[in-house]
This record gives sequence, C-alpha cells and structure tokens, in this order.
Amino acid sequence: MTFRGKHLLGIEPLYPEEIREILDLADQYVDLNRRALKHSDALAGLTQINMFFENSTRTQASFELAGKRLGADVMNMAMQASSIKKGETLVDTALTLNAMHPDLLVVRHPHSGAVDLLAEKVNCAVLNAGDGRHEHPTQALLDALTIRRAKGRLHRLNIAICGDIAHSRVARSNIMLLGKMENRVRLVGPPTLMPSRIADFGVEVYDDMREGLKDVDVVMMLRLQRERMDGGFIPSEREYYHRFGLDAEKLDFAKKDAIVMHPGPMNRGVEIDGTIADDINRSVIQEQVEMGVAVRMAAMDLLARNRRASAPKTIEA
Ligand code: NCD
Repeated sequence: MTFRGKHLLGIEPLYPEEIREILDLADQYVDLNRRALKHSDALAGLTQINMFFENSTRTQASFELAGKRLGADVMNMAMQASSIKKGETLVDTALTLNAMHPDLLVVRHPHSGAVDLLAEKVNCAVLNAGDGRHEHPTQALLDALTIRRAKGRLHRLNIAICGDIAHSRVARSNIMLLGKMENRVRLVGPPTLMPSRIADFGVEVYDDMREGLKDVDVVMMLRLQRERMDGGFIPSEREYYHRFGLDAEKLDFAKKDAIVMHPGPMNRGVEIDGTIADDINRSVIQEQVEMGVAVRMAAMDLLARNRRASAPKTIEA
C-alpha cells in the first residue's frame, strides 16, 4: 500500500508502508537540498496557499521553502489582516480561496478538527500544519526521518517523549507514528500534563525523568504550551526545570548514544538546558529543521502526484 491520500490531515489513517514511502522520498529531497542548485519542477504550475491562523516560525518557513524549491507558486495569507478579523468564518474564507483554484492548501489552526472540516469543503489537497492539540503530521514525519537517519532504523527503539504531553499535537502524532513503526514509546511528565487514559495508546507513563529516560535511544523534549493551558498546571518554571528539565545529570540515564530532540520553539532553562540543546554530539535539533523542509517537499510532491492521477482528463495547456 503506497500513499494514495488526497490530503495529509494526520498520522492516524496512515499505514506503515505509506509512512516509509514519504520518508524514502524525503531522503532524496535531503540530497537535493544539500546541492548548490536546489530546484525541481515537481510542483511547477501549481499554486500553494499557506494559511496560518496561529503563530509559526519553522513550520511556515519550511512549507514556503519546500513549495518554492519544487517550483510551485506560493502565497502566504496574512491571516492577522484577513477578513477572519471582520467575522468571516473559517469555511467562508476557505471557499473564497478555493475559488482561486489552489492545488495545495497548508493550514494551521488553533482548534482541533478545524483542518479536517476545511478539507471537506475545498477541492484541493489540504496539509495539516498543526490543529489545536490534535495532530501535526509533518512534524512527526520529520522527527521520524531524523531518528531513522541518526539510528539507522525506525523500529524497536526506546523513545521517551517528555514534558507537556496533554497540550501537544506533536506528542499525539509522534505517539501514533512511532507506535505504528513498532517502537516502545514512554511518556514522561507531571501527571497534570498527562492526558487521561493515555495508557490506552500502548505507551508507558512515568512521572520521574530518571526512571523514564533509563536506557532510551531517543529523548524528545516538548515545550510547555501555555497558550493552550487554562490554569496553573505547574507550580513554577523553576520547580518544573528542576524535576522535568533535561540537564546532563538526567540525560546520563539514557543510552550513551541517545539523541536529543525538540520540535521548537525551545525555552532554554525551562524544559531543556541550553548546553545540551547546543551539543552537536547529542542534539539533533538542527537536523530536525533540515528534515522538515525535505519531508514537506515529499508530502506535497506525493499529494500532487495523487491529484494528477485522479484528475479528469482536460486539455493540456
Ligand atoms: C510545535 C507546534 O506548533 O505544535 N512547533 C512546531 O511546529 N515546530 C510545538 C510547539 O509549539 O511547542
């Protein structure tokens, strides 16, 4: 089963073979991106619109660069200045854009499920760039590619995802992807930041970093997502760093060759010690950013191929 999807809305519906196909193509795009001339015409003639209803640095920049490197016409909608501010609904905005015949719509939205809803209303391929605390599929795919390249495989690894799991779409998408690829996933964090019934996802839950990190191959740190918290989930940042912040002493419990990951944006001294984040022997945080561009190129390339395959035959321009 290769990737036949019309949209990329989440990891949940993907088969392991589809994930592998996206990662294999992304590997090829990593090579292209390291060349002096980084151009392909995989999306030539196609229009990509990026709609970010929530702040973003890495994800938006990397979707834009990915589209441009593949030759698409890329437009970034300034959502702060858009008619959404005048009361237009998400669906009306989407229908307006749809009438301009985009081929790819990249959407980030603060509400879980908003991107799925939008995908039902438009004719183009929709890519979820993060919806609420639900899914962030390209982040999980870029994390998977980073792990596969660093460890030489993407199965039977012990992976600890640490911190604010409850508010994290990155954690959700990663738990599903890493589980589908037959890894052992541990979640480490304070009980107040653990979703209820999380053990149903086939993960092990810890509230002690030293126990949770024992002998893991991968340590994935998460930011405290304060914008999604509606009260005090932690006593203080100082206390949080003391118990759950990744420092050299806690990292020592992981395997000697364990890698350290973070999706960004990072809060140094809150969830991670700056020295560890910058340690090129342990941290793959910059590689994650590099893989992000390649994974987004692969995902958009495959969606465009699927679109061509299913399009009714029309007169070639
Ligand atoms: C993450 C996100 O937006 O979900 N960041 C990202 O996409 N690189 C994680 C976060 O905001 O902490």
